[in-house]
Amino acid sequence: IRRSVLLGTGSGLPARVVTNADLATQIETSDDWIVDRTGIRQRYIAGEGETTATLATDAGRKAIEAAGLTPDDIDVIVLATATPDQTFPSTASKVQSALGCKQAYAFDVAAVCSGFLYALGTADALLHRGMGKRALVIGAETFSRILDWEDRTTCVLFGDGAGAMVLELREFPADQADTAPGIIATKLHTDGEHNCLLYVDGGPSTTQTVGKLRMKGREVFRHAVVNLADVLTEVLSETGYAATDIDWVVPHQANARILDATAKKLGLPVERMVKTVDIHANTSAASVPLAFDVAFRDGRIKSGDLVMLEAMGGGFTWGASLLRA
Ligand code: ACO
Repeated sequence: IRRSVLLGTGSGLPARVVTNADLATQIETSDDWIVDRTGIRQRYIAGEGETTATLATDAGRKAIEAAGLTPDDIDVIVLATATPDQTFPSTASKVQSALGCKQAYAFDVAAVCSGFLYALGTADALLHRGMGKRALVIGAETFSRILDWEDRTTCVLFGDGAGAMVLELREFPADQADTAPGIIATKLHTDGEHNCLLYVDGGPSTTQTVGKLRMKGREVFRHAVVNLADVLTEVLSETGYAATDIDWVVPHQANARILDATAKKLGLPVERMVKTVDIHANTSAASVPLAFDVAFRDGRIKSGDLVMLEAMGGGFTWGASLLRA
């Protein structure tokens, strides 16, 4: 069997931290409301000179170092973002040049908060198809730049950042399927019917503006819990693992209540959910690899652990990926 094996992870965060109390000085909100409804205590906000590409470059550099590789070893860069530096060239192209990954072809994928799952699935498929041996997969966002800072129902929820993983395709004897590291299965879904519940009200082909994020939070919440539980069940039944076999779930960090509700629906102990929404808030495509990097570096996720990644976002898009670290 062949598997895309995780060799290293990395994070890139802006220098500036904005607390709930800081926000309460600008809009009518409170630390209590935000913590109670979302679990968020602070978020990182990009400042001058910090962009999706610079954060992605930081995360990518650290992931390549952690993998014990050099930029020349990377064959493909897949970068998930909904907040690219420019409409084109792709943010991945800028990162390719900033990192000096001269051998790598590079492109962006757009699936909003599920973007990292889509990027990971795409990179895994490319490696299996022989279109490179090592991939750098990045989720990177600067949602602060598309928020309506006068809309308290959305602006308190999001933050900026980037996370990255390096994958390498390796071969294992067939009888090691149960223990071999790497990505075991990925499932992705889209339902374009609900594109008016979470969207940006601008774009190059419509308004010729960047636009602002708009969301019907309550309805998104309802769909998120149902869709996430469905896709997690789908991956488990396809791979033959039980919820109790999973060592760690690394979920998209939208909201602590979505995480808890999903864990409950699947019968997973909440202690096995990696939670970083308190420090990062919702960083869209960056949230899964950022949370993974935190739990990998602090020793919670260990080599050999069975880890489920999951996310849901605008589109709607959602997905899950099961891997052995
Ligand atoms: N501070 C204080 N009060 C607020 C704030 C705020 N920041 N925002 C809203 N309120 C008020 C509302 O105005 C409302 O007041 P009212 O009752 O007088 O009208 C009250 O709080 C309740 O508002 P609701 O929107 O009903 O609150 P709810 O409990 O649904 O929580 C939230 C809102 C946190 C957005 C929730 O719906 C949610 O988490 N939804 C999921 C959305 C999400 O995470 N999206 C991310 C992208 S998709 C994804 O990643 C899954």
